[in-house]
Amino acid sequence: MKPDPVPASLPAGHVAGLPLTALAPMQDVTDLAFMSVVSHYGAPDFFFTEFFRVHAQSHPEKHILRSIEENATGRPVFAQLIGEDITHLTRTVADLLRHPVAGIDLNLGCPAPKVYKKNVGGGLLRDPDRIDEILGALRAAVPGLLTVKMRLGFDDTVNFDRILELVNSHRVDLLTIHGRTVKEMYRSEVHYDAIAHAVTRVRCPVLANGNVTSASRAAAILRETGAAGVMIGRHAIRNPWIFRQCRQQFAGQPVTPVTLGDVREYVGRLYRATTIPGLAERLHVNKMKKYLNFVGQSVDPAGAFLHDMRRAESEAALFEVCDRHLLADPNRTFSPEPFAGVIARPNCETPSLLTDGCSLDTITA
Ligand SMILES: Cc1cc2nc3c(=O)[nH]c(=O)nc-3n(C[C@H](O)[C@H](O)[C@H](O)COP(=O)(O)O)c2cc1C
Repeated sequence: MKPDPVPASLPAGHVAGLPLTALAPMQDVTDLAFMSVVSHYGAPDFFFTEFFRVHAQSHPEKHILRSIEENATGRPVFAQLIGEDITHLTRTVADLLRHPVAGIDLNLGCPAPKVYKKNVGGGLLRDPDRIDEILGALRAAVPGLLTVKMRLGFDDTVNFDRILELVNSHRVDLLTIHGRTVKEMYRSEVHYDAIAHAVTRVRCPVLANGNVTSASRAAAILRETGAAGVMIGRHAIRNPWIFRQCRQQFAGQPVTPVTLGDVREYVGRLYRATTIPGLAERLHVNKMKKYLNFVGQSVDPAGAFLHDMRRAESEAALFEVCDRHLLADPNRTFSPEPFAGVIARPNCETPSLLTDGCSLDTITA
């Protein structure tokens, strides 16, 4: 594959000349613990924090700041903001620039009604004039890298070209496009043709996002879109080896398969990394289930692991299920693609989750 060179203005990727990879920002997932676990299996080129909420009373959330301050992955972290008030956005930028951020990212995509009704996140896609003002203010406030993560539009793509022009006129340094509208949420087809269109319109590199399920899909999506790289979210929870596999695929090397035994080791590592002193065992087990919902999509085609995992109520029960399903035949390959019809439920389209931001934190079995 002939990669686009990464412009000198961006931090260098792991391997010069290869397309970029990034871990997608995910509220309550992409924290310090998850970033360090992912980097154990092969870090992406770039990390993005989950969004910092910006409003009159906001101060950068301490637990999100930890993912910047204590980042030991060796890879740059961009700080993502969600908000629309220019005074408070620029105040927050000034705060965040005191921390070792690679740049500032604006969220123009969150589809949770509670968020878009406040005209922030995906809601802003209805108002390109407001985006113009916000990007103007952010560009003036950010001496380094200013990046944007957007969907194609709110319920249609009528403003798409206008917003792409704003990306150019405000000299945005990197654009991530999740190839769905806000109304399409998370499970529709991804419109890679629209990402390809954007690649021809904007001057900055584009990361293609949405259903990049495996290294071979990443390569196909890059061919289809001409994007400079891929951003991967849910499928990095399922398969944290995916960034290393992408680099192998992009370099034309054999892609190292993952076994069920490897996955058992990942689950144990994630459990240890997400241990918080004082966190009740039941809550910790529930927290693990939100990750395992995605992992389970590649364990068995009938969803038996998911079925059993969701019923575990203690650490011992959870690991008994993991051992039974993952260690009975530890050399069996963990499917690189999710099995068709094995769906992570509850997922981010579950009604209870839509009352908050896009968070999996409220998930229980
Ligand atoms: C649990 C969860 C939380 C998310 N939180 C954020 C967020 O804080 N900021 C953001 O820009 N996108 C957020 N997203 C969207 C992802 O970054 C990404 O655009 C989307 O999941 C599509 O990519 P994927 O198919 O690789 O998961 C979130 C997605 C999920 C599943």
